Amino acid sequence: MTLSSYAAKDLFQWFTDKEDILVLDVRNDKDFKRFQVESPYPFDMINVSYYDFMEIEEECVAKVPKGRAIRIVCAKEGSAKYVGEILVKHGFNDVRYLTGGIKTWGNLLVPKLVREEENYSLYQFIRPGKASCSYGLCSGNEIMLFDPSRNTEFYMDFAKSKNCKIIKTFETHLQADYISGSRVIAEKTGAEFWGNDGDFKGTKAGHTPLTDGESHTFSQDGPEVTVMFTPGHTPGSTSFIVDNTYMISGDMVLIESLGRPDLGGKAVDWAILLYSSMLKVKKLNDDLLVLPGHYMDWNEATDDLIFCLDFGHVKERNKDVYGIASEEAFIKYIQDNMRKQPDEYALIRLANANLEQYDPDKEEELDLGKNECAATAYAKAQEEVGK
Ligand SMILES: [Fe+2]
Repeated sequence: MTLSSYAAKDLFQWFTDKEDILVLDVRNDKDFKRFQVESPYPFDMINVSYYDFMEIEEECVAKVPKGRAIRIVCAKEGSAKYVGEILVKHGFNDVRYLTGGIKTWGNLLVPKLVREEENYSLYQFIRPGKASCSYGLCSGNEIMLFDPSRNTEFYMDFAKSKNCKIIKTFETHLQADYISGSRVIAEKTGAEFWGNDGDFKGTKAGHTPLTDGESHTFSQDGPEVTVMFTPGHTPGSTSFIVDNTYMISGDMVLIESLGRPDLGGKAVDWAILLYSSMLKVKKLNDDLLVLPGHYMDWNEATDDLIFCLDFGHVKERNKDVYGIASEEAFIKYIQDNMRKQPDEYALIRLANANLEQYDPDKEEELDLGKNECAATAYAKAQEEVGK
């Protein structure tokens, strides 16, 4: 049997089909602990470094179970291929290596159809490597995007496949945890880039300012998108209500918790804003379907692996937060759950504000890794694992 390759999207498909594969990550222990592939379902993964395969080949080969489908992951591609050749030489007969390395997993976007109506279709683009979601709303031959990531080719190809022109790209806030694609998409396609002055004023992102309560429509009969300012995670955090049915909530309302307000170094000021936004969204209809900007865990997804939950259940699930009865108690909750943010966030903000630009390798490096946007102790635990 010869060695063959696979793409990140194949890996995601095998995960979701619950195929019996074993992931062999051959990066060093530190990189492996910092960031690794994840599946919605339990799966087997082992970490044996490429260097060890070079030094103590027999011992390393013995760690890999025979008779399994082996899917190798490495940093760039070359070392996975090298280890794959060793395994094939030792008689393994279903071995593949990841084309382009772990960064292709980090950039992978998985489109999910959330809703198909006569006059529109709404897509969630899940980014498993970041645990984040962006959105596309198609109507007629037009599409609006929400929070696209830097894999801009994906969105442009997607629009093309739907025979749609990208007319607007919205940012729910100035992102700190990933490099946004809105500015580049606007430049490449002529789409309008809309953002909230609360975050984007003073930047060189080239945005058109949003107004609270305004509506955005398609040129022909389509759904209405209503802008709702929900500051707190950032001063310019904005939610978008689609067709009175969905709430694209950015990092304001998450299925698990709310977006943390301490990323800007003004935890108390922003927590006060967040508390008043929480009171505002609490009044929204319980049937409104929340489409978040991030998730913590795949257990938040539906059986179809879509991150979408009605607001009534979101409130029920997070009653410890939504039940906080005073601003003072809310500030205390935020302060109790505060944790350090990754150093990269300051640089990512500058890139998203277009006040600084980095070469593609640096962008790639900054952009890789899970988000840290929720106000919970969960990510704090992750931080411990990451050490
Ligand atoms: Fe965020």
